[in-house]
Amino acid sequence: APQLIIYDLDGVITDTAEFHFLAWKKLAEELGITFDRQFNEQLKGISRMDSLDRILALGESAASLSAEEKLELATRKNGYYLELIEEINPGHILPGIEALLDDNKQAGIKIALGSASKNAPHILDKLELSDYFDYIVDAAQVTKGKPDPETFTNAADALGIAYENCIGIEDAAAGVDAINSAGMFSVAVGEQAHLGHAHYRVDHTQDLVFQDIIERFHNQPK
Ligand code: BG6
Ligand code: MG
Repeated sequence: APQLIIYDLDGVITDTAEFHFLAWKKLAEELGITFDRQFNEQLKGISRMDSLDRILALGESAASLSAEEKLELATRKNGYYLELIEEINPGHILPGIEALLDDNKQAGIKIALGSASKNAPHILDKLELSDYFDYIVDAAQVTKGKPDPETFTNAADALGIAYENCIGIEDAAAGVDAINSAGMFSVAVGEQAHLGHAHYRVDHTQDLVFQDIIERFHNQPK
């Protein structure tokens, strides 16, 4: 039976995935690099510096920048992002997520956060959701970000739970890869085109229903 559910933050619990997109887009435009939502799918779940590297590579300007310059750009993007999330409050929790967390807790199944974001603990506080979580993995705890499984295995290891008894919930292709390579059951929210490799996928967060997820977990082909 499942003993732990690990939730991604940006794009699953709240719509900060959109704010990351807008902040990167603003920075990229200042650099004369344009990218669209299709390219942005590759940035979801990816750490701040790795995202910057991918954008610079797209603009073919990666090689010409020093480490200091890159740090300045990443910091500038984070400034834009912090402006966008300043007003975030419990009203910004995505539909269905609080019911899911409530059902999860009532079932006695542990709850963890598996986020690539350095801003994750701050955002969880602003959403007033911190109390639900038995363990939080953010960018500070991992050496290898998604698609490496470390974000998810860290949470399971900290709580002493076997990977096969864990479920991960993600909106990013790289996040689903991370869950799958951890040997966990992957649940994705978003489009089939990007997330077809998940064990179970729904279109919208309100379709993330606790009983459905548990049923799919039990019916997975072994
Ligand atoms: C992930 C987001 O959760 O966190 C990425 O999906 C983001 O888009 C990454 O780049 C890092 O976030 P931050 O807040 O540390 O810049
Ligand atoms: Mg995400």
